[in-house]
Amino acid sequence: MIRAAVSTPYLRACLNTTRQTTKRFAMSNNPVRTFVAEATIPKLKDSSLFRHAAYVNSEWITSDKTFSVYDPATGKEIGKLPEMGGEDTTKAIQAASEAFKSWSQTTGKQRHDLLKKWYDLTMANTEDLATILTWENGKTYAEAKGEIAYGASFFEWFAEEAVRSYGNVIPSHIPSQRFITIKQPVGVVGVITPWNFPNAMITRKVGAALAAGCTVVIKPGAETPYSALALCELAERAGIPKGVINVVTTHEKVAEVGKELCTNPIVKKISFTGSTGVGKMLMAQSSGTMKKISMELGGNAPFIVFDDADVDAAVEGVLACKFRGTGQTCVCANRIYVQKGIYALFASKLAEKVGKFRVGHGFNADTTHGPLINDKAVEKVKRHIDDAVSKGGELLVGGKHVGGNFIEPAVVANMTQEMAIAGEETFGPVAGLFEFSTEEEVLEYANKTEFGLASYFYSRDIGRIWRVAEKLEAGMVGANSPILSSCYTPFGGIKESGVGREGSMYGMDDYLNIKYINMGGI
Ligand SMILES: *[C@@H]1O[C@H](CO)[C@@H](O)[C@H](O)[C@H]1NC(C)=O
Ligand SMILES: *[C@@H]1O[C@H](CO)[C@@H](O)[C@H](O)[C@H]1NC(C)=O
Repeated sequence: MIRAAVSTPYLRACLNTTRQTTKRFAMSNNPVRTFVAEATIPKLKDSSLFRHAAYVNSEWITSDKTFSVYDPATGKEIGKLPEMGGEDTTKAIQAASEAFKSWSQTTGKQRHDLLKKWYDLTMANTEDLATILTWENGKTYAEAKGEIAYGASFFEWFAEEAVRSYGNVIPSHIPSQRFITIKQPVGVVGVITPWNFPNAMITRKVGAALAAGCTVVIKPGAETPYSALALCELAERAGIPKGVINVVTTHEKVAEVGKELCTNPIVKKISFTGSTGVGKMLMAQSSGTMKKISMELGGNAPFIVFDDADVDAAVEGVLACKFRGTGQTCVCANRIYVQKGIYALFASKLAEKVGKFRVGHGFNADTTHGPLINDKAVEKVKRHIDDAVSKGGELLVGGKHVGGNFIEPAVVANMTQEMAIAGEETFGPVAGLFEFSTEEEVLEYANKTEFGLASYFYSRDIGRIWRVAEKLEAGMVGANSPILSSCYTPFGGIKESGVGREGSMYGMDDYLNIKYINMGGI
């Protein structure tokens, strides 16, 4: 474990101005401890959830050609899975297409019952699913258990939505005609998901797809496929029919698999969560067959703290919003704007709390933050810190690469618009603090990005809360609220952060076509 030292002169000056923090500052100035990335991997209660095979048409597929999945904390191999390609993907699409014939004809109630069973089984196996998740993703076991409950909530929510897929009767302007609409499933859906929420990014899409009557071919993140396969095992136990859910595993051939999903005419929709760059490529590939598209892409979330904010609440907000998943979520705060009057106080309070974080293996009880996913992620975080520091940013705490994929959570003050963090998503545990003067000025900074996923601000002024919430260019706004996502509320972005909404009363729409029926001769 490591305890980051708070040591810069700037921070010391800040801390000396606030009596109650001076004492704690001395405490967090302890020497750095030996860093331990190792942990004992808990034994699964039900080892059959840990499947070393892909899942197509209810068959567990193995192959001579495999790729390895690693524990990001230790770099040790977890297991091997089949390296599948375009032809395997075609077979999975055909299985999903065959299954669609009968699945699309089931009643909402039948789909409700199966999704509810899948929900119950997921919840009943929370600990094992969280163990697999922490092992392959690195997030702490507590966070992993939280993700399993959050992920399962989409099965429950969409089970309940499956029976509420209403059409309309439209008043007619022609006496001999009547107009109605019905909703029908779009067909086979290609689901491409990332490694940062190995469970919930699948359930949020697949829950909605299945509720609507669609069948799916899933390509999970190559770093975290075991969580997807555990869900398949539970789907099978729940009685979800053959071919309705398929998982294709791949690492090297990801481009080939993605292309087949996006260009095969049988697939009617692509639902993707990942980077904006890859999203644009998949969207372009999907245009040839005019697929429906849902894209949850990159963000560059502003987090604004006004002078009139509850500073302690705002500090807690940043801790939760910026550092969740070690900063590796698309809705993590990326640029933290703090108004002049409270800037120094805010910086000192935040740095002091961040200095108490412990990085380490997700299974160790005193770990607050796990590793980054891989060395590429480490390089990016290091580059963002170095870039900021080289341009006058002041590292208040953390920022040290302590080995492997571990970086101490960091706070950098004196950020400017010229620094990389101002324009690029860090996807790591670095809180960059920008100082601002006026509401107008900060809105300009906040909106000056091609992204528009989440945004956050803290204020106690009701007029300002309305004004700022309306002016922020983002699909989601947290006003005095750092964690936005739930199955009840719509998740999604505007601008280059994507199209479509997941979860909520809107979430099934993306998987349904509206059919208009005109009945004449009345
Ligand atoms: C940080 O900003 C403060 C206030 O603008 C300034 O006084 C200080 O010199 C800056 N520190 C660095 C290292 O640039
Ligand atoms: C975002 O902020 C800028 C600067 O204040 C403003 O010009 C723009 O209109 C804002 N966007 C919206 C949607 O209000």
